[in-house]
Amino acid sequence: MGTAYLLLSFLSPAQNVRTDEYGRDFEGRMRFPLRIIDRIRETVGGDFPIGARIVGSDYHDGGVDLDYCRRVAVRLEQAGLAYLDVSAGVGPRAVSDSPLTMGGGSAVFSDFAAAVKSVVSVPVMSVGRYYTMAAAEAAVASGKTDVVALGRALVADPEFVVKSLTGRESEVVPCIGCQACHGGITTALGVSCVLNPATGHELEPAPEPAVRARRVLVLGSGVAGLELARVAAVRGHDVTVVTGELPFGGLLALRARVPGAAEVGDGVRWFRRTLSDRGVRVVRDAPAGEHDVTVSAVPGARHPLPAVAGSSAVVGAEDVLSGGARLDGSVDRVAVVGPGLLAGETALFLAATGRRVTLVATGERAMADAHPLVAGTTAHRLARLGARTVTGATPLAPVDGHAEPFDLVVDAMGWRPAEGPGIPVGDDWDAFAQRLLVRNATRLARTL
Ligand SMILES: Cc1cc2nc3c(=O)[nH]c(=O)nc-3n(C[C@H](O)[C@H](O)[C@H](O)COP(=O)(O)O)c2cc1C
Ligand code: SF4
Repeated sequence: MGTAYLLLSFLSPAQNVRTDEYGRDFEGRMRFPLRIIDRIRETVGGDFPIGARIVGSDYHDGGVDLDYCRRVAVRLEQAGLAYLDVSAGVGPRAVSDSPLTMGGGSAVFSDFAAAVKSVVSVPVMSVGRYYTMAAAEAAVASGKTDVVALGRALVADPEFVVKSLTGRESEVVPCIGCQACHGGITTALGVSCVLNPATGHELEPAPEPAVRARRVLVLGSGVAGLELARVAAVRGHDVTVVTGELPFGGLLALRARVPGAAEVGDGVRWFRRTLSDRGVRVVRDAPAGEHDVTVSAVPGARHPLPAVAGSSAVVGAEDVLSGGARLDGSVDRVAVVGPGLLAGETALFLAATGRRVTLVATGERAMADAHPLVAGTTAHRLARLGARTVTGATPLAPVDGHAEPFDLVVDAMGWRPAEGPGIPVGDDWDAFAQRLLVRNATRLARTL
């Protein structure tokens, strides 16, 4: 009955517009879920515990709210359910400001669980951004919930619990809330994690020790390059990572500087610890000397920037985010041009500095490459900072009657797949694109 599924569409007054006995009023809307529970009960017998996920809100105007959720909970307890798991839906209002993405906070639905707990006597479970054992324990200790359910924490690291309970918390692969796992559920790629490509591929054997240890040079320290370095080191190779101009973590490290995205930095820190434990060297410039294998893990060539009328100064998005392009007080009106999340998040970064920012999304819709929750939440944050978004608008017309519409144009068109010396792995901005590169990287590392 959770999230965006069939039973919620019966339960929610906003979604259920039926006029037969499965709609109309509360009992009508409960009828289909209750019939299913009855049928399950007939099948499994009286002793078998049946629970349900319900939502504290479905984020539809006129839909499930807290009062309504409490009524549902009471009715389900009367129907004999053994526990209730309280989440929240993903209706239109959730997509425009989602607590489930980066920057949304922790234990985000625990108040919904607490409200349900106040009206039922069966155990209540809370789900939603519990990323540390301490956060889970605090929610139980506060009395808001009896049990905590973990979703993406276990996608990022199936050993989350055992590591946390055995003093190995620093080894836990962190979930950074990027939604790359969820982005795959409607594709043949299924669920996997950008930081842990073993998830979703559990039947694959662990990487085997290399037949011959080799000297591996990884150019670039984006997440795919780091994963390649990690697997190569696990296999016994002697690995050096060259960061180059970008900070350690490549584009992921730059993304951590975007307002609301700081927690992606947890992924970078995890790689730093893990690679250090594995003896991987990290240097800024490529060392002199022989290497057996060189892998290129830097972004590829830039996509061309469309003509932008009346603006002379152009800088790359990565230069803005890294601080390489020093923007002084004379830079006020800025256009950030690009089709995807790179443009949206660079615009957000600049809008947070107080500048007047226009996101020029070169496609039909802004941030088309991003997961809907991430794109929607970024758009909401941009709007809150007063940034404008225009779509498909190239070349740009002067804005507000100014002949010279912008002091600066930021090139956020993104990069083509990597080319260059060695075997290409690349780096990219959006988490799903990174997830695909990481998968390539781990495959490649197994062949070295
Ligand atoms: C890959 C993936 C698949 C999910 N599938 C479902 C689902 O089928 N039904 C549901 O109610 N929630 C589903 N969810 C939502 C999770 O159960 C959970 O409520 C949500 O991810 C928030 O918890 P977390 O922050 O611990 O991940 C899914 C989440 C992910 C990441
Ligand atoms: S893909 Fe992103 S959101 Fe999903 S488990 Fe991994 S880090 Fe978390």
